[in-house]
Amino acid sequence: MSTTEHPHAAQPAAERAGSPVTELTAEHLVNPAVNGRLAGRRAVVTGAARGIGAEIARTFAAEGACVAVLDLLLDEATIIAKEIDGFAVGTDLSDAEATRVAMSATIDHLGGIDILVNNAGVLKFSPLLDISIEDWDLTFDVNVRAMLVTTQVAAKRMIADGSGGKIVNMASMGGKLGAPNQAHYAASKGAVISLTQVAAMELGPHQINVNCICPGYVLTEMGAATRTQAMIDAWSAKSPLGRLGCPGDVAKMALFLASADSDYCTGQAMNVTGGMMMQ
Ligand SMILES: NC(=O)c1ccc[n+]([C@@H]2O[C@H](COP(=O)([O-])OP(=O)(O)OC[C@H]3O[C@@H](n4cnc5c(N)ncnc54)[C@H](O)[C@@H]3O)[C@@H](O)[C@H]2O)c1
Repeated sequence: MSTTEHPHAAQPAAERAGSPVTELTAEHLVNPAVNGRLAGRRAVVTGAARGIGAEIARTFAAEGACVAVLDLLLDEATIIAKEIDGFAVGTDLSDAEATRVAMSATIDHLGGIDILVNNAGVLKFSPLLDISIEDWDLTFDVNVRAMLVTTQVAAKRMIADGSGGKIVNMASMGGKLGAPNQAHYAASKGAVISLTQVAAMELGPHQINVNCICPGYVLTEMGAATRTQAMIDAWSAKSPLGRLGCPGDVAKMALFLASADSDYCTGQAMNVTGGMMMQ
């Protein structure tokens, strides 16, 4: 599995912070999918330039949501945003202040927020004894700390508006089981599960549901560089369903957790592993 590259990481925070490339107009809020499960909802999906996040953005838009696509990869995010008639925001989530500024600007463009999906994540394989402090910090900054920052900005707005809301965090099977060569990643995803539980406790009185998803092995860019057919076969055999996951499998769970269907579900870590893990 390869490290997610950050081509804009050297840019100063002020240049990266909150740079919406498409102005939100009134017509964005009049989505034709008026009967969709998310009709009229305003959503922010992080890490939505590709992979699981892009599929979540597409799924939400198809169900009537107006979606802000927030990612480090602004060009790719812009393509997805145009496809779904949403808008793109380029932000480096490893920069806490830039994240706070970008989230505030994004919510202002949306005119409020009903759904936050904290999907962005990084993974770099490394044996426990070789993990550098830099890699540990980057993993936690993107996978967990950014989640805290976006949640603080979004939940404060949801509380101020009295509208309630849904927050969906991307954890991982690794956060429950761990896996060799993924100590920093697995620890960060374990932290996501704990953060989700505490957020659910504190935000529940404001009718804000907070849940997380634990995908198994999903075929995306994450890991593509080192993936082999033998690995795919071995992992597929761990699932009673006999296959790996696809982004749509995870997006359907995100849709459930973002919709009214999950109104009495909070603080949960939902497995989407094809049965690779059953606890
Ligand atoms: N693919 C899997 O097998 C798998 C399994 C379990 C969990 N997950 C989790 O699902 C989520 C999505 O993973 P994916 O497979 O789609 O990966 P991916 O690498 O294809 O996509 C990750 C996205 O996050 C963005 N991102 C990374 N660092 C960022 C930063 N500093 N600022 C802003 N955006 C940043 C990337 O640009 C990218 O668009 C991640 O949280 C990942 O840990 C994936």
